[in-house]
Amino acid sequence: MNPQVERAVEHFRALLEEQIARAERLEREPAAAGAHGKKTVIGVIGGDGIGPTIVAQAKRALEFLLADEIAAGTAELREISGLTIENRLARGEAVPAEVLEQIRACDVLLKGPTATPKGGAMESANVTLRRALDLYANVRPVRIPGEGVDWTFFRENTEGEYTLGSRGIELDGLAMDFKVTTDAGTRRIARAAFEYARKNGKRRVAIVTKANIMKKTDGKFTAICHEVAAGYPEIEAEDWYIDIMSANLVNPAIRSRFEVFVLPNLYGDIITDEAAQLQGGVGTAGSANMGDRCAMFEAIHGTAPRMIEEGLGGYANPESILRAAQMLLAHIGRAEAANRLARALEICCETERKLAVTGDASGATCEAFGDYLMEVLAR
Ligand code: IPM
Ligand code: MG
Repeated sequence: MNPQVERAVEHFRALLEEQIARAERLEREPAAAGAHGKKTVIGVIGGDGIGPTIVAQAKRALEFLLADEIAAGTAELREISGLTIENRLARGEAVPAEVLEQIRACDVLLKGPTATPKGGAMESANVTLRRALDLYANVRPVRIPGEGVDWTFFRENTEGEYTLGSRGIELDGLAMDFKVTTDAGTRRIARAAFEYARKNGKRRVAIVTKANIMKKTDGKFTAICHEVAAGYPEIEAEDWYIDIMSANLVNPAIRSRFEVFVLPNLYGDIITDEAAQLQGGVGTAGSANMGDRCAMFEAIHGTAPRMIEEGLGGYANPESILRAAQMLLAHIGRAEAANRLARALEICCETERKLAVTGDASGATCEAFGDYLMEVLAR
């Protein structure tokens, strides 16, 4: 055999064995409940680029909304440092071991965006964290109130194109990546989507794939979603392809009929940026990475390196990380605090809009928006 092919086959064999073991573990492992103690520990991670700037404003809001609990010792905001691109590159680890240890000691996380080097072997910190903490459901709500659009995306968050995204094969003149879909991995994201639909009185779940082309992986994803859907007879499960669904979202004549979406990792990544843009920009959407033991809340967008290069980092919009903080509060059962933050954001971003962040010097700075929000929260 051609030695290149031989090496590639060996590589593939190791991947297969590892993925079979993972699939078996997923089948075996019962969903574990979170091990919450008396105190809820919220890890706060600044990240890279505009991350520390926007996270600082979300931290202020959390400190204010949880002030009584922080004083009483039932909640803690714990800064976690070291998840920076400089430290990660210096250590040669996507998430340095001691940072991961600190992260694991938290109940939930609020995380700023982290930079991912293009190419090379260093995996995205997001992808590593989602895997290490088994945060399999990426939940992304998007609303356009004036149009009656109220979407919730359930993006599978640990499989698909991302599982082995940094471990493809490169031969002379040819490169190959792998996409992995498991029964158990699909079942749990489908359940999350249908449970959400049931609890929130939604009538439809759109299963979005490209199963006409990705026949094995997306074919399985669709089939398993329908198996799960059978347990929810009151909810209509509809099959859609990702290309036409991308068109549907920009079609005002029909887009408000969609409610809940369940989709594989990469399609979910792409279409939720599109959806966020329709809501008002990727700077406006929050994102929850949910597992059975832990959850991580973040902005939907990245580190905005261009803004940093142009010296505009201070004008970053903190809205998306604030929406993430709102989801975090709801998740840890602080519904009143979550509602207060939601109302304040509505005043600051929709109804009153005394100042607006535009991403450049024509608008308010991130900090000025934070001041405004704090003033509204205290009203
Ligand atoms: C997201 C981001 C990440 C992803 C990047 C930062 C790895 O785009 O959370 O949507 O691709 O999942
Ligand atoms: Mg993305």
